[in-house]
Amino acid sequence: MLQIAPSLLSANFAHMDKEIEWLNRSEADYLHFDVMDGSFVPNISFGFPVMASIKNEVQLPFDVHLMVVHPEQWSDTLSKLGARIMTVHQECCPNLHRTVQQIHEAGMLAGVAVNPGTSLSVLEEVICDIDLALVMTVNPGFGAQKFIPSMADKVRRLRQMITERGAHALIECDGGVNLETGRILKEAGVDILVTGNTVFKAPDPVQMVHDLKSL
Ligand code: DX5
Ligand code: ZN
Repeated sequence: MLQIAPSLLSANFAHMDKEIEWLNRSEADYLHFDVMDGSFVPNISFGFPVMASIKNEVQLPFDVHLMVVHPEQWSDTLSKLGARIMTVHQECCPNLHRTVQQIHEAGMLAGVAVNPGTSLSVLEEVICDIDLALVMTVNPGFGAQKFIPSMADKVRRLRQMITERGAHALIECDGGVNLETGRILKEAGVDILVTGNTVFKAPDPVQMVHDLKSL
C-alpha cells in the first residue's frame, strides 16, 4: 500500500493547530519537513525550532528532507529532535557513503535525494546501504510546481536497480504529486508519495490523503 507524507511547506503556519489536528486524524504515514537554506535551493523555509515546537503534538514520524549544503552536520540535531528519516541531497555530499553511515549511527533511517537533472548512477554504490531513495519530481525549492513527466521513467529505472541489487531502499517521490501523477508514479514503482499543495489546499485534506493512499 502507498505511504503518504504531507509536506509541511504547504501548511498555513498561522493556523498550525488546525493543520496538526487533521494530520493526526488522517491516514498519513509521515510528516515531511522541507528544510531549505537559500544556498542549495533558491528559497528559505523553516528549521529546527519548528520541529521542536510541534514534535509533541504531531503523531506522525518526521521525514526530514534537507535541501541544504553540508547536511551531514545536522545528524545529531535531527536525532535529538526524534526524526525518523534524514534525507540528504547527493548533490551536497562528496562523502555520501560516510554521511549515510553517520545518519545510521545517529539512529535514523538514511535517505538520499536526487534532483531531476541528476543521474541515478550516483546511487549505485550506496543503494544497498540506504533506507530511502528520494526522486525529486520537481526542481527543489518550492511547493505547487508542475510534475516533471520524465521522472516516471526514472522511478521505473530506480525500481529495477533496487530489484537487481536486492536492496531494501524505499522509493519516495516529491513534487507535483496529485491523484493523476500519484497514479503514474505508483505504476512506476513508488512506495512513498510526498505531497504538499494537493493535500493542504484540498477542501477535505483527510479525504485527499485517503484517496492518494488508495491509488
Ligand atoms: C520542493 C519540496 C517538496 C514540495 C512538495 O522542494 O521538496 O516537498 O514541498 O510540494 P507540492 O506537493 O506542492 O509540489
Ligand atoms: Zn521535500
